[in-house]
Amino acid sequence: MTCEVRTASDTDDSLMRQIQRAAYPDYVQEPASLLWFPAGQLDAPANCPHKLVACQSGVPAGYAAVWRVKEEKYRFDLLVHPEYRGSGIGSALFEVVLRIAMDSGARTLQGRARADDERASIFLHRRGFVETQRMTGFERELADLDSISIPSVSKFSVVTLSEAQTRNPSWRSDLLALLAAAQDGWPDPDPDPSGLSQIGMRVFERLLSNVEEPDAFFVGADQGTYIGVSSLHTLGTAVHPAYRGRGIATLLHYHALRKARLDGLVRIVRPTANRAMRAVFLKLGYRQSLTEVRMILRSDRASL
Ligand SMILES: CC(C)(COP(=O)(O)OP(=O)(O)OC[C@H]1O[C@@H](n2cnc3c(N)ncnc32)[C@H](O)[C@@H]1OP(=O)(O)O)[C@@H](O)C(=O)NCCC(=O)NCCS
Repeated sequence: MTCEVRTASDTDDSLMRQIQRAAYPDYVQEPASLLWFPAGQLDAPANCPHKLVACQSGVPAGYAAVWRVKEEKYRFDLLVHPEYRGSGIGSALFEVVLRIAMDSGARTLQGRARADDERASIFLHRRGFVETQRMTGFERELADLDSISIPSVSKFSVVTLSEAQTRNPSWRSDLLALLAAAQDGWPDPDPDPSGLSQIGMRVFERLLSNVEEPDAFFVGADQGTYIGVSSLHTLGTAVHPAYRGRGIATLLHYHALRKARLDGLVRIVRPTANRAMRAVFLKLGYRQSLTEVRMILRSDRASL
């Protein structure tokens, strides 16, 4: 049987969703839930310039997309319809993905597989990918939130981003200083070889522009100094290294959960690769769900 890989057009988007639905029938958004779907393979940005479709004897059987995340770091989606697996379609798509990434100057390429999908991990390992991170999902219904008791950390105050913006003229630089410090220990699946991971003004501004609900973004402060943040929608949870291990992430995330319930949400799934954050989720009554394995191929190990 012949396999042909072609560039996708906008009209192929629904086709890609159909293939994704066949591969992951349980990945369905629910209106009152904030969910996370590991290795979903439909994460390419809307303006992704490289989307591909593979056809087996003329029938669409798989798709892929590759895009630049930042600097020379690239990421890709790749999914083959379950009925067409094992006949070289994934390999044909990956060959084109890799060529596009290399021609674009990629230094690294990131792929993601579900931890319970052994064949996906083997596919990536065989092509030189090395595991760098495990992102584990944690889920929680919000109905019984009042049953948790949060240890008091009353020495610290908690405000929303809206309140911080009104009350503190230097909220922007204070928040940037906190986030820059909190980069320490923040898991990165594709860290810079220098080991440095810094948050620049551009990334910070992009983060801020993604905050759609400043009333659901919580900031912890110690006598006016920002020491932690938590939001279910943007950024996640982070605490200044000097204040870790004192229950601040637990307190801030609890505020975020209470606000989510107030807003009508009933179920939350959030991912993390940070061991302390896993402990926070478990303290707050989440249970562990599925895990995504993130793998990196370095360009000097790639063979075309
Ligand atoms: C994850 C983070 C937010 C936790 O903040 P924190 O204020 O220290 O969290 P808390 O004090 O509320 O709770 C931390 C829990 O993790 C536990 N913990 C700390 N280090 C741990 C480790 N290496 N392995 C397992 N558990 C650990 C602590 O013992 C504590 O649990 P306990 O209260 O049962 O003893 C903080 O480490 C951080 O900002 N990291 C960088 C940003 C990041 O990675 N955020 C997660 C993004 S999803």
